[in-house]
Amino acid sequence: MTEREARARVDDLRARIDDANYRYYVLDDPAITDAEFDALLRELIELETRFPALRTPDSPTQRVGAPASERFAPYEHARPMLSLSNTFSADELRAFDERVRKLAGEAPVSYVCELKIDGLAIALDYRGGSLDRGGTRGDGRTGEDVTANLRTIPTIPLRLRPPAPSFIEVRGEVYLRKSDFERLNARRERAGAAVFANPRNAASGGVRQLDPKLTAERRLSFFAYAVAVQQNGEGAVARTQWEALALLRELGFHVNENIERAATIDDVIAYCDRWEARRDELDYEIDGVVVKVDDFATQELLGSVARDPRWATSFKFKPREARSKLLDIVITVGRTGTLNPNAVLEPVQIGGVTVRNATLHNAEYIASNDIRIGDTVLVTRAGDVIPRVVGPIASERTGHERIFAMPDRCPVCGSAVDHPPGEAMSRCTNAACAAQVYERVRHFASRGAMDIEGFGDVFAEQATQLGLVRDIADIYALDAQRLTAVPRMGEKSSANLLAAIEGSKSRGLARVLTGLGIRFVGEQTAAILAADFGTIEALAEATEEELQRSEGIGPEVAGSVRLFFAQPANREMIERLRAAGVSLASSEPRRRTDGPLAGKSFVLTGTLPSLTREEATALIEAAGGRVTGSVSKKTDYVVAGESAGSKLAKAEQLGVAILDEEALRAMLPPAS
Ligand code: IVH
Repeated sequence: MTEREARARVDDLRARIDDANYRYYVLDDPAITDAEFDALLRELIELETRFPALRTPDSPTQRVGAPASERFAPYEHARPMLSLSNTFSADELRAFDERVRKLAGEAPVSYVCELKIDGLAIALDYRGGSLDRGGTRGDGRTGEDVTANLRTIPTIPLRLRPPAPSFIEVRGEVYLRKSDFERLNARRERAGAAVFANPRNAASGGVRQLDPKLTAERRLSFFAYAVAVQQNGEGAVARTQWEALALLRELGFHVNENIERAATIDDVIAYCDRWEARRDELDYEIDGVVVKVDDFATQELLGSVARDPRWATSFKFKPREARSKLLDIVITVGRTGTLNPNAVLEPVQIGGVTVRNATLHNAEYIASNDIRIGDTVLVTRAGDVIPRVVGPIASERTGHERIFAMPDRCPVCGSAVDHPPGEAMSRCTNAACAAQVYERVRHFASRGAMDIEGFGDVFAEQATQLGLVRDIADIYALDAQRLTAVPRMGEKSSANLLAAIEGSKSRGLARVLTGLGIRFVGEQTAAILAADFGTIEALAEATEEELQRSEGIGPEVAGSVRLFFAQPANREMIERLRAAGVSLASSEPRRRTDGPLAGKSFVLTGTLPSLTREEATALIEAAGGRVTGSVSKKTDYVVAGESAGSKLAKAEQLGVAILDEEALRAMLPPAS
């Protein structure tokens, strides 16, 4: 390649990278995948290395992100916020290690491996132990001052735990848990608002809200991963990354628990392989591993080139985003009658799985993202959630794309479709619609609910189509005689199925409640309601106010439960379940309502001097109290012991009463 040819290519690459950066950082609406972006940047770096004359100060290789938007005051970084070089294979990791060892000479080289959290990087300044200012990365030198928003994030301590350094700048990643992401999107979907394509977009948009209340609603989280500047009063000064992480933990930050030290590059590679395989087990998205030289003096010695430190690299997992073609949009009808648009895609490999279908959520999502049939689209597959279409790649349009319209008749039963103003979903108005009945019945028999073996999707479809099962209670009216109507159902499988149906009768209230498919009542909520109310009668009679006394039950869930039991058809169906012998009581003993701690909820954290967690739980429950896992406004007491962590911080923040073991014992009846 001549320099002239290189110049043309460099110009082209820069324009594409600038555009991608703008869409990613400013619009929060990426048009190319991370992998594609990395490839462009790599090519540019290579060309600039071969032809140094082409390297200009305004090249995207010379800075780290997008310009700060003008809505926030600038936040100047005391030390530039660098980004990382990428590695994509074990061989590249070995090359990185060789380079490090060569440059380090005699200096010690071992590594710290950290998960690369997929959120957005921020810096936090603490003066005299208190959070003073916090900002985003921006272009690496100047970011946005988003202090007010960061203060709403529960895992960002407002005060450090003593002994705090006189000044410290902490860096880390703001992210959204997958579970919080699903909840956020479900809420937005109900409210008719646009849903987010991935947790990262939701987190980064959340941090840059103009109203901190809106940030707080997203329930963001924070992992600290670096100490950028430390000036110490009395506390310890970290000399290695491993020590820095320990210090951060002591100061009250959440440090990811999966960090590991690695003496050799083989250990590093093993860590990378392990977490690439296990990423779906985590409740947050990771897109790789960050490998850092442990010793700070060695880091100093290695220094950095252009935008990247030489002492660290990020190992990128295989991408889980890809382009595909949207061949068609088909509608399926859900349990509650919702018309769900699904993408039919040209098969594409994403993270080792062939994806052919993806969700498009609702008509509003399709319209607001301007997704058209025939478009080249960006598809992501994140964890165990169904793949989703992120958006079209508009530059690939040919003009033959078609705009999608929601049908006004149910595609299954032909009934009218209702689309209440302000609601995201269109619904089939016919409760007896075969698609709805099928979904309800299938859900009731499914593993998480009544767990009826042999009653899978295929049988559910046959039984509903043949009219053998028109509602849930009909399942218990099945007998050998009726089952002869089902094609390919032999005597043996018929008997097995009937035995499984019989067996399901004693699953207990929690499973029945899950199976009923009441809106917003999933497995967890069902278990709580079953434990608190004991029987279905008690639950059916409960007022919204009584329902809301249960952990995690807000007005939305309470309203939905009331609505369900207010309908005569549902009550009648429950009577038929009872008549068939289905247990409608909780198998767990009802919670005591007379003990001294009745109605009080507790959270345990840290190590207590003389009680194990189980013992403390048993004592509290025996006195009528309840122990839950996480601190919320509904928590009455947090019992804190040695090395209590974020739960204690959260309790302080919410003003929840904090007890030590002695204070807890004082509340218990004397016999315990
Ligand atoms: S260290 C020089 N550690 O990955 C070191 N970064 O390009 C710079 N990230 O957007 C960062 N998890 O926000 C580091 N454990 C971790 C990280 C991490 C996620 C992000 C970071 C930045 C990108 C690095």
